[in-house]
Amino acid sequence: MSDGNGAGALAGKQCVVMGIQNRWSIAYAIAEQMAQAGAKIAVTYVDERAGRDALALAEKYGGKGYTCNVESDEDLDRLAADLARDFGRVDSLVHSIGFAPAAELAGRFIDTSREGFRVAMSVSCYSLVAAARRIAPLMTEGGSIMTLTYLGADRAFPKYNVMGVAKAALESSVRYLAYDLGGQRVRVNAISAGPVKTAAARGIPGFADTYGAMLERAPLKDEFGAAQVASVAVFLASDAASAVTAETIFVDNGYHAMGI
Ligand SMILES: NC(=O)c1ccc[n+]([C@@H]2O[C@H](COP(=O)([O-])OP(=O)(O)OC[C@H]3O[C@@H](n4cnc5c(N)ncnc54)[C@H](O)[C@@H]3O)[C@@H](O)[C@H]2O)c1
Repeated sequence: MSDGNGAGALAGKQCVVMGIQNRWSIAYAIAEQMAQAGAKIAVTYVDERAGRDALALAEKYGGKGYTCNVESDEDLDRLAADLARDFGRVDSLVHSIGFAPAAELAGRFIDTSREGFRVAMSVSCYSLVAAARRIAPLMTEGGSIMTLTYLGADRAFPKYNVMGVAKAALESSVRYLAYDLGGQRVRVNAISAGPVKTAAARGIPGFADTYGAMLERAPLKDEFGAAQVASVAVFLASDAASAVTAETIFVDNGYHAMGI
């Protein structure tokens, strides 16, 4: 049974965490905290190279790892089939995947190419829909789906560009998925994380400035990282969040609420 976020909050649950690149990934911290809360974990990574840290983590906690490029319907179909074979039931799905071509994050949003827009939307937004459609049928006892978003969906951050537009579409997708899946007691939420030093974040020019701005202006001055995001993911996957769906939860020391 659930006892908040302590040991055992996810006892008996089976959680799939998509998007580990390395040990700095937000998905890595989420998968680790979910395992420590008692869940059996499955992790996914884009290719074998990215899978090194992910597989070591999964093995440490008796879980499993799978390659899945979300641009490939075949990969997504295979992942769902592998999960059905190896786990049977899934209780939680974490989507922690985002990408836009570097050229789209270098200049002005107005110069976004058609192909750059397509890729950013496909990898960062449509992949949630595609994964949910395949994996929600395995949530036979209800479930919790969550994705990672950023304040750049609501506000214009220079150079975040098309990723901000993709995150806005992602947050909207969360609400539509929550409506579609509510009838089978599957909740769908987004965590809007403050800046965390990861591979994806390093690809965004000026990221260090956003981290400094958060520490300077946010109500909470504490150091902030993937661990703070992961504990909220554990909460969303737990029975403690049984009435929380279609929501975007900010986990950013309160930075989003500030005017200056
Ligand atoms: N780091 C931050 O400051 C921050 C803040 C808010 C939201 N986020 C979001 O958190 C999520 C995870 O990012 P992160 O910061 O942990 O960085 P990360 O680089 O560790 O994770 C991004 C993941 O996306 C995966 N990915 C990219 N293209 C893919 C594809 N075609 N198929 C499958 N996987 C693919 C990468 O392999 C990687 O595992 C992203 O959605 C990101 O936008 C990050």
